[in-house]
Amino acid sequence: TLRGSFALKARKANRASRYGLQLVASYKVAILGAAGGIGQPLALLIKMSPLVSALNLYDIANVKGVAADLSHCNTPSQVLDFTGASELGDCLKGANVVVIPAGVPRKPGMTRDDLFNINANIVMSLVEAVADNCPDAFIHIISNPVNSTVPIAAEVLKQKGVYNPKKLFGVTTLDVVRANTFVAQKKNLKLIDVDVPVIGGHAGITILPLLSKTKPTVSFTDEEVEQLTVRIQNAGTEVVEAKAGAGSATLSMAYAAARFVESSLRALDGDGDIYECSFVQSDLTDLPFFASRIKLGRNGVEALIPSDLIGLSEYEGKMLEALKPELKASIEKGIAFVQKQP
Ligand code: NAI
Repeated sequence: TLRGSFALKARKANRASRYGLQLVASYKVAILGAAGGIGQPLALLIKMSPLVSALNLYDIANVKGVAADLSHCNTPSQVLDFTGASELGDCLKGANVVVIPAGVPRKPGMTRDDLFNINANIVMSLVEAVADNCPDAFIHIISNPVNSTVPIAAEVLKQKGVYNPKKLFGVTTLDVVRANTFVAQKKNLKLIDVDVPVIGGHAGITILPLLSKTKPTVSFTDEEVEQLTVRIQNAGTEVVEAKAGAGSATLSMAYAAARFVESSLRALDGDGDIYECSFVQSDLTDLPFFASRIKLGRNGVEALIPSDLIGLSEYEGKMLEALKPELKASIEKGIAFVQKQP
C-alpha cells in the first residue's frame, strides 16, 4: 500500500540518516585537473560518495577516458567529462564544490614555491571561471604552493566581486592525515582515535603540527616532538624522493582531499558537527590567511577554532613565530601576482 511504502521510506531514511547516509544524492562536485595523479584517484573516491549526484571532470588532456572508465561504477553519481577552456563553464555550472588539483607537481630538489610561476597562472584562470559560473561554490585549492595559490584565488574572486572568505579553502588535510598516522605509529595508538591539529600553512616549516593538542592525550619527549614535527613537515618531500622524479603525493593526497570533500558535503547537508583543518582567511593571528581547525556549516566556514592556539608548548610557540615571516611572504607573493596583472 501507499502508506506502507511511505512508512518503509521513512524507516529507511531514518536508518540512513543514523549512518550519515542520504537516500537521495544531490550534490554536484567538479574536479579541475581531474586526469592527473591526484585527480584520478580523487575522482574515484568521490564517485563512491552517496552524497554526490553529479561528478564533472575537467582537464586540458586525457579526461575523456577517465570519465568513461569511472562512469561504469554503479554508484549514484553521473560522471561527465569536459576539456579545453570552451567547456570549462559548462563543467562548473551548478557545482556545489569545486576541487582544484590542476598544475605541475614537484620533482626531487624542488620546493613548493618553485612551482609558483606555472601554477599561479593555472589557478588564476581556473578561479576566474569559477567566479563567472558558480561563485557560490565551496572552492578547495590543492595546487601548490597553497600558501600563495589561496591568496591568488581570493584576489581573483575579489576582482570579480564575488569573494566569500567562508567558501575558499586551501586543502591541508594531508598534513593532518600524516600527523595522525605518524603519531599513532610512534605511540602505538589506535589510528582511528588519533587527532592532531595542524596549523600555519602548507610548506616546510609553515606546517606546524600541534602535538601538545593530540587527542587522545599523550605525552612526548622533547626529542619525539622535534622528530615528529620535522617528519610531518617533510613528509611530502619523503614521497617526492621515493617517487624519484615521477611526481609527488597523489594517493594519500586523493584520500585526504576526498575526506575534505565529504566533510564539506556533509556540512552542506546540514550535519552540525563537522571540523577540519584548512588554510583560510583568518584573524587568529596577524596573518591574513592561516591554517587552523575550522567548523564547517552550510555556508562554509562557520567558525575558526581559536582554542588550539591557546596554551601552546614552548616549542610550538617558538615554531609559530618562526613560520610567520615565510608564510607572510608567500601570501604577499600571491596577492602581488594578481594585482600586477595587466
Ligand atoms: P599531475 O601533473 O599528475 O596532474 C596535474 C593535472 O593538471 C594534469 O592532468 C594536467 O593536465 C592538469 N592541468 C594542467 N593545467 C591545467 C589547466 N589549466 N586546467 C586544467 N587542468 C590542468 O600532478 P598531481 O600530482 O596531480 O599534482 C597536482 C598539484 O597538486 C600540484 O600542484 C601539486 O604540487 C599539488 N599537491 C598538493 C598537495 C596538498 O597537500 N595540497 C599534496 C600533493 C600535491
